[in-house]
Amino acid sequence: MLIDTYGRVATDLRVSLTDRCNLRCTYCMPEEGLQWLAKPDLLTDDEIVRLIGIAVTGLGVTEVRFTGGEPLLRPGLVGIVERCAALAPRPKMSLTTNGIGLKRTATALKAAGLDRVNVSLDTLRPDVFKTLTRRDRHHDVIDGMAAARDAGLTPVKVNAVLMPGLNDDEAPDLLAWAVENDYEMRFIEQMPLDAQHGWKRDGMITAGDILESLRTRFTLTAEGEDERGSAPAERWTVDGGPHRVGVIASVTRPFCRACDRTRLTADGQVRTCLFAREESDLRGALRSGAPDEEIARLWKLAMWGKKAGSGLDDPSFLQPDRPMSAIGG
Ligand code: GTP
Ligand code: 5AD
Ligand code: SF4
Repeated sequence: MLIDTYGRVATDLRVSLTDRCNLRCTYCMPEEGLQWLAKPDLLTDDEIVRLIGIAVTGLGVTEVRFTGGEPLLRPGLVGIVERCAALAPRPKMSLTTNGIGLKRTATALKAAGLDRVNVSLDTLRPDVFKTLTRRDRHHDVIDGMAAARDAGLTPVKVNAVLMPGLNDDEAPDLLAWAVENDYEMRFIEQMPLDAQHGWKRDGMITAGDILESLRTRFTLTAEGEDERGSAPAERWTVDGGPHRVGVIASVTRPFCRACDRTRLTADGQVRTCLFAREESDLRGALRSGAPDEEIARLWKLAMWGKKAGSGLDDPSFLQPDRPMSAIGG
């Protein structure tokens, strides 16, 4: 079991499959991209499957989320999903993606055993999409989401980060569109995880702003605490249901007390939190021939060091050295 000193148990593993991406979202990375990890530093498909196997069969992990960077850029993704689906007990598996490659891969991913996907889409306006992501791929994302829904990778959840002066007026339109298309819309507060270190708390669109904007058009009814469990999203039913909307307020209403997550970077480091400054090297142990029991011991030890929270409200808060695309979103 992956328990920490606050009694939280990690059952949800987030695995970054690559730090690369085919978009350049302004809240994430600069126009020119980043210094990508070198191929030999990345875990191989076999190493990833072995680590997930240790987590699932030996450490109580029940849910696996594949992230990036953009996880669909990983050539071996379908094979990794297939092999993880054969583990006993079989973990629940999902993918957080920018959606661009989904049209091509949704059916194969479903057949391999993937359960569902979350897709990032910040705007319904192609021109704003191009400004926000610095790429003209709006259509590909919209098509990818429909392909995922039609392949049964459901519920398809949509993630939008609202940026002042760009798309902060779009929350009601995005929600109306998501309801119409049978997607679950979620709005995310921008977090200080961009490679450029440009985040400012003052300029950020807060959960309060988002709810106020949504309530100009919809009646929102809060879900009970019991239904939330350890999810970062607080949810409301829209106009009496059945559709819901979520808000992920990591800055103004953090969910750290209920956190059940452990993370693995694409280069095989365990991180206990998105905002952790420490990493524990499992790749080194794997490559020096450590048996499963030793890897499991190192993983447990890493989780024992998990902090109470993100530390965002601490005056001495320091942004992690690695940006979100390298940590795994
Ligand atoms: P599901 O609702 O189960 O699909 O999970 P999720 O909402 O965590 O998944 P997703 O990958 O779509 O992430 C949505 C947002 O939550 C992104 O902005 C993530 O960066 C953020 N997020 C994911 N994990 C954490 C975490 O451990 N801490 C914080 N503060 N935010 C997180
Ligand atoms: N703050 C909040 N969310 C972010 N994402 C990427 N960078 C940030 C950030 N700085 C979102 C993406 C994607 C999810 C994995 O995280 O839009 O939906
Ligand atoms: Fe790529 Fe996601 Fe970063 Fe956008 S937020 S550049 S889609 S990794």
